[in-house]
Amino acid sequence: MRWLSSIDHNISNMELQTFTCSFERLSSREEVSPELQGLIDASIAAMKAAYAPYSGFSVGAALLLENGVIVIGNNQENAAYPSGLCAERVAFFAAGAQYPNLRIIAAAVVASSAQYTHGDPVTPCGGCRQSMLEYELKQQHSIPLYMISPTGEIIVSPSIKQLLPLYFESKGRF
Ligand code: THU
Repeated sequence: MRWLSSIDHNISNMELQTFTCSFERLSSREEVSPELQGLIDASIAAMKAAYAPYSGFSVGAALLLENGVIVIGNNQENAAYPSGLCAERVAFFAAGAQYPNLRIIAAAVVASSAQYTHGDPVTPCGGCRQSMLEYELKQQHSIPLYMISPTGEIIVSPSIKQLLPLYFESKGRF
């Protein structure tokens, strides 16, 4: 169709900019410190307590604060579907509400469902990336994110920023 070709845009190689996303893959939780293993365990416990009767997809998140406290969250679903909230946002908003001035040292997220039997760790949705990034920018320190699979494999992102290229920023806009 003619109108489609009129909106084609070819970026020349000279103009192309590249975003690099670096992450690490670990084959088991034994590869992280006992403190982080505790964080992973907390995310798994949170996942088991998720309220996900509609999707059957249970997600748990846990945040380690600078004072050693672990704040957890899990997905909370609702009969009016859009009214629910993801595990990551439940955890980050809870930390923001209860410990507004404490730094988040690390975060872990894990998920399971009857169908989810492959080993790929869960990776957060776009909305959660934007929400989590807000706290990283606010505290001016990176938050490493440990993404856990039910079979034990882990992907570690050194920061939330790495997961969201060209993120939305308020700075200078409002
Ligand atoms: N979910 C999360 O808790 N975190 C994510 O990053 C993606 C999805 C939840 C939302 C919903 O309750 C269920 O998983 C299925 O999408």
